[in-house]
Amino acid sequence: MKSEFELLQEAKAFIRKTTSFEPKVALLLGSGLGPVSEALEPVAVFKSETIPHFPKCTVVAHEGTLALGKLGGLDCLALRGRFHLYEGYSVREIVRPVRLARLLGAQILVVTNAAGGIRADLQPGDLMLISDHINLTGVNPLTGDNEEPLGTRFPDMSEAYDKSLRTLARDEARAAGFPLAEGVYAGLAGPSYETPAEIRMLRNVGADAVGMSTVCEVIAGVHAGLRVLGVSCITNRAAGLSEGRLSHEEVLATTSKYKDRYSELIARVLRRFAKDGVK
Ligand code: HPA
Repeated sequence: MKSEFELLQEAKAFIRKTTSFEPKVALLLGSGLGPVSEALEPVAVFKSETIPHFPKCTVVAHEGTLALGKLGGLDCLALRGRFHLYEGYSVREIVRPVRLARLLGAQILVVTNAAGGIRADLQPGDLMLISDHINLTGVNPLTGDNEEPLGTRFPDMSEAYDKSLRTLARDEARAAGFPLAEGVYAGLAGPSYETPAEIRMLRNVGADAVGMSTVCEVIAGVHAGLRVLGVSCITNRAAGLSEGRLSHEEVLATTSKYKDRYSELIARVLRRFAKDGVK
């Protein structure tokens, strides 16, 4: 069996047949958030499933492409449509784009997602800077043999979401004139939404928002030495916290309504990276 590093080298060689472009920043775009990369001036775009060892994206409103190009004046890689545990993929497959981005040259990982608001002030349409996460998926992308070229055996997670990138994002939201909340994201495997009892438990363990992605990619990103910035779009109050039932349609309707604000925040952050240099 080939090592993960070997599989990634094959994926990288495939991309390198088309372009020598080296992204500085990798963007992982969640449900309905593909438009965040609309302004990207593409150098090359690949359908995910054509890249060796990449899964196929199966979720509605996840486009399923990996695009390379300039966004906000910066060389970026945008994964429009991430992969999820609930699609049946292994955790190694889910984090493959993150590791590939690192091998292609990325230094910063920007993760976006849709999430349910647990904390009382987190309402649909709010943007929440992720200050930390709780991995409740039941898996970890680093289990098994540690492949040294991919990272160290026991990575420190005490500042998984880079402090200076968070400060920069807060400054940019303030300059743009819109509120930016901050909180802890709990990542579960899904695909069923949580029960109200699970939401009460999550609140008690310190979660402010809940979703079905992100935590595994961030662990792999930190392992790979990427600096991480995470922003959630709160699309609904979590289960049991409002009238009515939860649906993917509601999640998409909210991301669609607030995508411009979300895109502006990310674009501003990227312009700041371009101006200050990716440090
Ligand atoms: N729970 C889990 N995932 C989600 C939610 C939610 O309430 N909203 C958007 N993604």
